Amino acid sequence: MALVTGSSRGLGRAIALRLAEDPAVAGVAVHYRSERKAALEVVHLIRSRGKRSTAIWADLYQEKHCLRMLDTAGMRLGTVNILVNTFGPFLMKPWNETGSAEWQRIYRGNVLSALHCLRAALPGMKAGRWGRVINFGYHRVEQWAAFPGILPYAAAKAALLLLTRTVAAAEAGSGVTVNMVSPGLIRGGRLPEGKKVRAGLVGEPSDVAEAAAYLVSDRAAGVTGANLIVAGAWKM
Ligand SMILES: NC(=O)c1ccc[n+]([C@@H]2O[C@H](COP(=O)([O-])OP(=O)(O)OC[C@H]3O[C@@H](n4cnc5c(N)ncnc54)[C@H](OP(=O)(O)O)[C@@H]3O)[C@@H](O)[C@H]2O)c1
Repeated sequence: MALVTGSSRGLGRAIALRLAEDPAVAGVAVHYRSERKAALEVVHLIRSRGKRSTAIWADLYQEKHCLRMLDTAGMRLGTVNILVNTFGPFLMKPWNETGSAEWQRIYRGNVLSALHCLRAALPGMKAGRWGRVINFGYHRVEQWAAFPGILPYAAAKAALLLLTRTVAAAEAGSGVTVNMVSPGLIRGGRLPEGKKVRAGLVGEPSDVAEAAAYLVSDRAAGVTGANLIVAGAWKM
């Protein structure tokens, strides 16, 4: 069974719907926080594809919610052996105007939420000797460049990549792979209003969902600790 965080909308929604089309995926748990109606619509679409689904509410800033979400998904649908940590809050603000509460929110939302969900899911995956974890970066996560407008976000995503590779190495040989997908400019995502971008550089949510579908498949059994950039060469 798969669980996709932040799947009431955006990239998470596209991934949940794409995984529901995979014959190897028996069901998909849809996680949401405020958009219950939208989450139930995703559940309905998944069920209409003949797959099991359920909507689960959780505030992923809180560790106990992460643990309870994994428990609930397990009770309703069966062991979660595919975990897609899509949720990852963004902040664009000059670095010297960013307060410690914002640093903490971005770190907790991007790194600790993924860590807590991963820790809760790992025992079930290891028991079944098969598991897939996908975390989310962004297209420049490995560039180690200066990003004064998005510093807490860039730092948190770099930390998440380090976590991804560390757990991938720790779990090598266990049947569990841990990878990162790093989107660029995605339609309906963070493209600033009115910004002109050369045709071909803006990706679709389905491009990102396809990358996730590959990484959870058995075709990607040998891929772990990887960072798969889906950015159409945007700012390479
Ligand atoms: N979109 C892009 O263009 C882009 C580009 C580069 C990287 N990324 C990365 O890709 C991932 C997905 O991005 P996204 O823009 O599609 O989604 P996002 O803004 O990170 O997440 C949206 C989802 O998160 C849920 N959510 C919001 N606050 C929450 C909370 N406190 N606890 C739990 N869930 C909460 C929302 O649920 P409700 O709607 O129910 O509140 C919604 O389902 C992120 O990790 C992001 O950093 C995105």
